[in-house]
Amino acid sequence: MFLGKMRKFGLGNPTSGVSFLSSFQGTSLGNVCHRHRKHQRKSKVLRAKSSQKTSLKDDKNQPEFEQQRTESGRDIHSSIDRRQLLISSFTAAGLPLISNQSLAAPIQPPDLTQCQKAALPPGAKSVNCCLPEPTKVIDFQFDSSLPMRVRKAAHLVDAAYIKKYNQAYELLRNLPDNDPRKFSQQASVHCAFCDSAFLQPNTNDFLEIHNSWLFFPWHRWYLYFHERILAKMLNDDTFALPFWNWDNQSVASPLPNVLPAVFIENPSLLDKLRDPLHQPPTLVDLSYSGQDEGLDPTSQRAANNNLMYQQVVSGAKTPSLFFGQAYRAGDANAPGPGTVENAPHGTVHVWTGDSSQPNYEDMGALYSAASDPIFFAHHANVDRLWTVWKSLGGRRKDITDPDWLNAEFVFYDENASLVKVKVGDALSIDKLSYTYQNVGNPWIAVNSSPLSKSSSVAGTKPVSSNGVASPATAEATLLEEIEEFGEEVEGKFKKLEGSFRSKVKRPVKDLFRKLKSQITDEELEEVLVIQGVEVPSDKISKFDVFINLPDADDKTPLNIPEFAGSFVNVPHLGMGPGMNRKATLRIGIGDKLEQLGIKDLSDVIVTLVPKGKGKDVPIVIKGIKIEYD
Ligand code: C2O
Repeated sequence: MFLGKMRKFGLGNPTSGVSFLSSFQGTSLGNVCHRHRKHQRKSKVLRAKSSQKTSLKDDKNQPEFEQQRTESGRDIHSSIDRRQLLISSFTAAGLPLISNQSLAAPIQPPDLTQCQKAALPPGAKSVNCCLPEPTKVIDFQFDSSLPMRVRKAAHLVDAAYIKKYNQAYELLRNLPDNDPRKFSQQASVHCAFCDSAFLQPNTNDFLEIHNSWLFFPWHRWYLYFHERILAKMLNDDTFALPFWNWDNQSVASPLPNVLPAVFIENPSLLDKLRDPLHQPPTLVDLSYSGQDEGLDPTSQRAANNNLMYQQVVSGAKTPSLFFGQAYRAGDANAPGPGTVENAPHGTVHVWTGDSSQPNYEDMGALYSAASDPIFFAHHANVDRLWTVWKSLGGRRKDITDPDWLNAEFVFYDENASLVKVKVGDALSIDKLSYTYQNVGNPWIAVNSSPLSKSSSVAGTKPVSSNGVASPATAEATLLEEIEEFGEEVEGKFKKLEGSFRSKVKRPVKDLFRKLKSQITDEELEEVLVIQGVEVPSDKISKFDVFINLPDADDKTPLNIPEFAGSFVNVPHLGMGPGMNRKATLRIGIGDKLEQLGIKDLSDVIVTLVPKGKGKDVPIVIKGIKIEYD
């Protein structure tokens, strides 16, 4: 496969992040190792010369980096695929052979003494994300003396709790500046691990805990220590964070799916940088694109329920769909998020952040998100969804790969000691002595209830009498006319300007079955893969994916079965302005094909619809395919 790519060296590719190393002038045929190059951020493009020679600039082992431009003239800095860079050698025929750099080892914690200031764009609050340097690191031990703490829904907490909760943050905000437990330091932890403060040990790639399988466990540990620190402030080991129950579409008062009053009415829990248009009683839009759709409450609730069902139940039947893609030592960061990380996680961030701020601070940009105390309640709900997901059965279980289980992080604990933890110790909240108030998750069953009648589907293609777009007709009338974009090949890309539709071939399941012998046929999940998604990392962008609805556009409602999932970019400023984020979007579609009655067809029609702010930023994709997981 690599060799296949190599033969195409030298082909121009306006947005390619694939690095081309062709030949090396005057150097031995040994390894080409990119070591720490001080200011070389990850997102430069290594471009091959058409002569198939890589010119070497100031350093014999440093190929030349150049920026490239998109058609629109905007700088696109694609990230290097480091796995292809580290080791290079030549085959007997003189063709370069580049091996995967992935070390097949778990991610290690960063060296806190090697912190760089995050590169933040104009308009960003000045934040130094670096953490206090530790004297020593201790290994995490489970504390069996801890009482079981119950995290309650934020809309249901009582006055006594609110008083303590507010007091805890007041104390946290007033700690001395260099205390790692101080609230501003706690917020910096999040910035440091997502905005390029640390390099992954022994690489020159930034350590990033979003957009990969590290997302859920890292945030669980982050909340765990934050909660323990709050408990310490109060001298109350029973203290637990609340969770913001935005997935709950109940109409009973107090509403769970609005900004909880506790974060508005209490000075230490209030953050001024929140969207003024999204105050109660405005309902959360779990599919928020950076622009308000103005749905009536009933339609908003239906869309939210459908999104939840989609992202947690039907679209996330396998560990990799739910957790996101593998990220091991030596891998380029942020390979691709799981369903929930995109939405509702990312969408609620952007919905909460202040749209009048340049970067949707605080919640709407990763570097500043944790400066708002609501961050921790938002993530408590995300964390709760991990436990809900595991309770749904089938293959919905934790990842068993040792490179996930043994990945390690460091956090300051309630005693201001630096503690090393691993993913494998975060899998049971029971062992961590906390649990969640049982609030019910009605969206789990949304599939069995009739989908809302939506007259607004008019304008999208065939609509049957019950208001649900009729897949069979769409298939019959349009399949022939729709072209196949096909899977990723060098040189091909598509900039999404408005809706983009493509026919996608369904491969023969048998081939995949052989690779996954331990998985039964019924359990083998069909996955739609949008390859080579590339967006400016510092801009909000979103596109929605529809199956079998060729004419879907940005007016198409999301509470219909054809809606299959979303790609969401929460501004990621530390990557630097103008830098691109690259990712793969994977969406489980097995249930959906069944629901739409098209599981026996050989092709499906996929429509990608840029939404909201996403319509204004260049979104590029490189391929669409279906595989089995
Ligand atoms: Cu670390 Cu909600 O992001």
